[in-house]
Amino acid sequence: MRVGIIGTGWIAEKAAITLGGMENCQAYAVGSRTQQKADAFAARWNIPKAYGTYSALIADPDVDLVYVGTPHSHHFDVTREAIIVGKPVLVEKAFMANHRQAREIVDLARSANVFLAEAIWTRYQPAVNIVRSLIAKGKIGSPRLITATLGYSMGDKPRIMRPDLCGGALLDLGVYALNFVRMFCDAPILDIRSQCVKSQTGMDLTNAISITLEGGILANLQSSACCVGDNIGVIAGTEGNIIIDNINNPQRIRLNGPDRTFLEDIHVPGQITGYEYQFAACRRHILDGKTEPDEMPLDETLYIMRLMDGLRREWGVRYPMDGDF
Ligand SMILES: NC(=O)c1ccc[n+]([C@@H]2O[C@H](COP(=O)([O-])OP(=O)(O)OC[C@H]3O[C@@H](n4cnc5c(N)ncnc54)[C@H](OP(=O)(O)O)[C@@H]3O)[C@@H](O)[C@H]2O)c1
Repeated sequence: MRVGIIGTGWIAEKAAITLGGMENCQAYAVGSRTQQKADAFAARWNIPKAYGTYSALIADPDVDLVYVGTPHSHHFDVTREAIIVGKPVLVEKAFMANHRQAREIVDLARSANVFLAEAIWTRYQPAVNIVRSLIAKGKIGSPRLITATLGYSMGDKPRIMRPDLCGGALLDLGVYALNFVRMFCDAPILDIRSQCVKSQTGMDLTNAISITLEGGILANLQSSACCVGDNIGVIAGTEGNIIIDNINNPQRIRLNGPDRTFLEDIHVPGQITGYEYQFAACRRHILDGKTEPDEMPLDETLYIMRLMDGLRREWGVRYPMDGDF
């Protein structure tokens, strides 16, 4: 699968490194807003094609998958353009700025029968099935309390601080905490309470979200763009708990029994970077003629976007493209 990478920033580099280590996938092209940056990126990562506009990459008939690695504010236009010409697209999290944009893009892809996926990398990783299987086998009894924290000190980044780039901790980091709950607990959400601390630019820097779910389950989630979090997730049940380190790239899964007695440490398979699973899944699904991934169905992407809209509305964290939101 020949991947065309849109953007030349932090995650674009990770994608290039990952694809460089894969057998059936290749970083074939890079698209940037400037030819100079595209050329430098292509030379550094040994990528055959370098384009000075995103449109030129999308128009390349040899690109099998467009991978969108721009700030959240810039996912919509490029994804829309790719779908219109019939190119499969993998879009970085957070999928879009808001649910309205996400709905429009999903509807467009479905009506055009074009493959579309959100690059929420954890969803595609082997740890998901390992943890799901521990829960399904009753190893911790009935889940009652889910906690997850994700924090990185990144308050200097424009894409975190600026409303026009859809900043804040929620879309960048909180999205993993919300996915953590939804990956391991499909009980309907009954209520959500939350609060946040904002930056001077009006973006959520640190947030806390408390969710009650059907079946007597409570989830407490925290994310922060201004501190170094422990990034641990815990699923606590009536007979034990599972501790996942860490929630956006699980490497170690610890199972404890009653009275917190240690039962097992499970290490996930070695990885290139951990991003390879999402590219491999796209390749497999496209070859199978599917138009969305089982690992992260588009309805789930839409559900998460709706949750994030609701939280931002409560906090008054608004982006220019939110309209009457
Ligand atoms: N999955 C993960 O683990 C993970 C980790 C980090 C980030 N991400 C996601 O990846 C996306 C990009 O994050 P990043 O950290 O890579 O951002 P970044 O380092 O700021 O890079 C973003 C790239 O997007 C392009 N771009 C287009 N319009 C832009 C604008 N107005 N301002 C700045 N850049 C613009 C730029 O490339 P050109 O100038 O070459 O066009 C830039 O290099 C986000 O959706 C983020 O949430 C995911």
